Amino acid sequence: MTIYLDNAATSFPKPESVYRAMDEFARTKMANPGRAGHTMALAAADLLQDGRHRLNQLFRGPNPDRFIYTLNCTDSLNMAFKGILEKGDHVITSDLEHNSVNRPLRALELAGIISVTQVKSDSGGTIDPDDIVKAITPHTRMVALTHASNVLGTVQPITEVGRICRNKNVLFLVDAAQTAGVLPIDVQSMNIDLLALPGHKGLFGPTGTGVLYVHPDVKIKPWREGGTGGDSTTETQPKSWPYYMEGGTPNVLGIAGMVAGIKWLEEKGIQQIYQHEMELMEYLWNRLEAISGIHILGHRDFTRHVATLSFWSENVPAPELGVSLDQSVQVATRPGLHCAPYAHRAQHTFPEGTIRVSPGPFNTREHIDILVDAVAAITSL
Ligand code: ALA
Repeated sequence: MTIYLDNAATSFPKPESVYRAMDEFARTKMANPGRAGHTMALAAADLLQDGRHRLNQLFRGPNPDRFIYTLNCTDSLNMAFKGILEKGDHVITSDLEHNSVNRPLRALELAGIISVTQVKSDSGGTIDPDDIVKAITPHTRMVALTHASNVLGTVQPITEVGRICRNKNVLFLVDAAQTAGVLPIDVQSMNIDLLALPGHKGLFGPTGTGVLYVHPDVKIKPWREGGTGGDSTTETQPKSWPYYMEGGTPNVLGIAGMVAGIKWLEEKGIQQIYQHEMELMEYLWNRLEAISGIHILGHRDFTRHVATLSFWSENVPAPELGVSLDQSVQVATRPGLHCAPYAHRAQHTFPEGTIRVSPGPFNTREHIDILVDAVAAITSL
């Protein structure tokens, strides 16, 4: 049985209630929501609305209809960038971003549409809000920032950056890939205009689920148009939200799982889960740093961290160590660059990368012991 320590990539296992909800939904309610008035179609539509209400409550939104179902966090980010940015716009981002932010922005830059400034993180893996202030120009349309680095687990000062963006009249996009369902997020008090998040990580849904929150004042064009099931008479996409942004049949089965995941989170409490994961993380950190030749990246302030840790060994390259851990003790970690090459350049771990360990709610100290003992044995050979 694999010891799964790769929850930053996708959470596993899912709570039992998620598996049960998906099975029950697939067998009894998996109709096309809004496309007919029969009982099953109405039940599927109700599920989508229930999910939007829960998302609105979880992220303190102003209106459930501003939460759009997407395929994953990358889909949400692309929707935001390509639906909003126009010729001449300037975007500020950081060197901690995942390629789901880096690549669409770079493609728009190479196409001559936007310009991009990448602010640098410090050696501990945190950006300084003053650097955002310094980078703002009269053309700055958006600041796009990760809430927590997917490589280092370091939490970024999004409240301060949100305040800056509001004062300067710049849109603020937060990539919550590593924090949605993990840390409290209040889109209104944090001045977040766009929140992109996956359903399959901290919300415990299956892969193929994601969400984009869009503030009611933000002008955005849909980049996917098509049937919405409601008003079929108009020649172009109906303007009413959420249908404006949701052409095509949604992943209702996946959303059924995500909604069950959110219910599970509500029952357990985000804070309790976070505390459990951070206890494991501290234990892991303390044990790993006692091994000779192991280097852990990022600052050690656990009040500004999620349960993700990256390390490298002087003796065994990360890709080799990752394979050895999987094959010798069936421990799943993520070796390499984690789709965040600039973060690795900043930490001087490019191109080999690191081993990333990300415990979840179902991990135990015993799992950490098995991992650390194996790291000690493999790297001392
Ligand atoms: N973005 C995911 C990760 O960091 C897949 O592993």
